[in-house]
Amino acid sequence: MSAQTAVAPARRQRGVNLEKWGWVFMRVSGVVLVVLIFGHLFVNLMLGEGIHALDFAFIAGKFATPFWQWWDVLMLWLALIHGANGMRTIVNDYVTNATARKALVWALGLAAGLLIILGTLVVFTFDPCLGVTESSTLWETCQAQG
Ligand code: HEM
Repeated sequence: MSAQTAVAPARRQRGVNLEKWGWVFMRVSGVVLVVLIFGHLFVNLMLGEGIHALDFAFIAGKFATPFWQWWDVLMLWLALIHGANGMRTIVNDYVTNATARKALVWALGLAAGLLIILGTLVVFTFDPCLGVTESSTLWETCQAQG
């Protein structure tokens, strides 16, 4: 008979298993990101004149359309939450010092949170006519809009 070391019985955790839902989120957001990122690249770089049509007016046009506003905001939120949560996993796996680990995970959360707030504000408050003067190519268009 081989010598066996005593193994503590697996502990059953009560309540919501956040790590499990984090694992599920990474898979689901990964699939959604494929659609959002490749859709974004296809529309911006290949449709119509493709990359040659990319300028300020092109972006202004997209940000004036609720469909693209929501597309871009969803891509921003998912990429940042997915990326930050993925980095959290790496930090938890490799950073052995508990204080450094805590600080890095907090820094990741703060950076992702700040970028989500700033990015969302930019997408929904973007105004191409802000600061436009008579010398600007947008002057006529912005005058017509009132
Ligand atoms: C293009 C669509 C994407 C797909 C299909 C995808 C898929 C995945 C999956 C399934 C995981 C989990 C891997 C694991 O647990 O072993 C993962 C991890 C990760 N993803 Fe993504 N992802 C995508 C885009 C992104 C983007 C845009 C970012 C950055 C903003 C990102 C950053 C990460 C990081 C940092 C990890 C952690 C890597 C690790 O655990 O070793 N991913 N990705």
